[in-house]
Amino acid sequence: MRRKLAAGNWKMNGTTQSLKDLSALGSAHKGSGVDILICPPATLLAPAVQTVSGSDIGIGGQDCHDQTNGAHTGDISAEMLVDAGASAVILGHSERRADHHETSEDVRAKAKAAQAAGLMTVICLGESLLQREATNTLDIIGAQLSLSVPDGATGENLVVAYEPIWAIGSGLTPTPDQIGEVHDFMRTRLERRFGAGVGRSVRLLYGGSVKPENAAEIFAISNVDGALVGGASLSARDFSPIISALEAS
Ligand code: PGA
Repeated sequence: MRRKLAAGNWKMNGTTQSLKDLSALGSAHKGSGVDILICPPATLLAPAVQTVSGSDIGIGGQDCHDQTNGAHTGDISAEMLVDAGASAVILGHSERRADHHETSEDVRAKAKAAQAAGLMTVICLGESLLQREATNTLDIIGAQLSLSVPDGATGENLVVAYEPIWAIGSGLTPTPDQIGEVHDFMRTRLERRFGAGVGRSVRLLYGGSVKPENAAEIFAISNVDGALVGGASLSARDFSPIISALEAS
């Protein structure tokens, strides 16, 4: 049985003021039957870890370098995330692939480093609108999945998030059939590469304009084990009903 996961990606949002919402979320979902992960900006990692202590919320980073340390100004290593108290890291988000020209090979190297450091990796994949309209979505997803995910995946160290680029922050979401098609495809690919046991234990998240209004419908889709939420994870008012929908699914 895969444990459901509600993950929040704060992106470049949030100051110490935002920790109040985190604290409210922790109280509202104490003893939750699902895993809850919040990935704040790096400046808030350590205080966020303090804020959630005693609650059931985990804290994660939004990126890491593939080296443990060295002359890489502005970067952060997986070991540093662990040192700050993080248990997970988002890798290969489409915004990093676009803004920082990260390739799937880069993502794989980062994921290897993160898994070696003991972090759970949330590896993001997704097609652009142009790619979807050219109807080769599964080819794109298949290539990103095989290139971005390192060998040695387990249900503990790997989560895959399907995030169509055109659905992120746009208010648009794919139909349930479109989400189901990609998630079933990713499940089959993971089973083929890692064996049925591991392939079935990896959690698959959907991400892209998940809101309180559409969460229940998305969580009812086969092979959707939770969500990676951007905008709606910034306030407890919006994220809490999404977590509740996952708890009820
Ligand atoms: P969104 O972002 O929920 O604001 O669409 C999702 C994401 O980028 O992870």
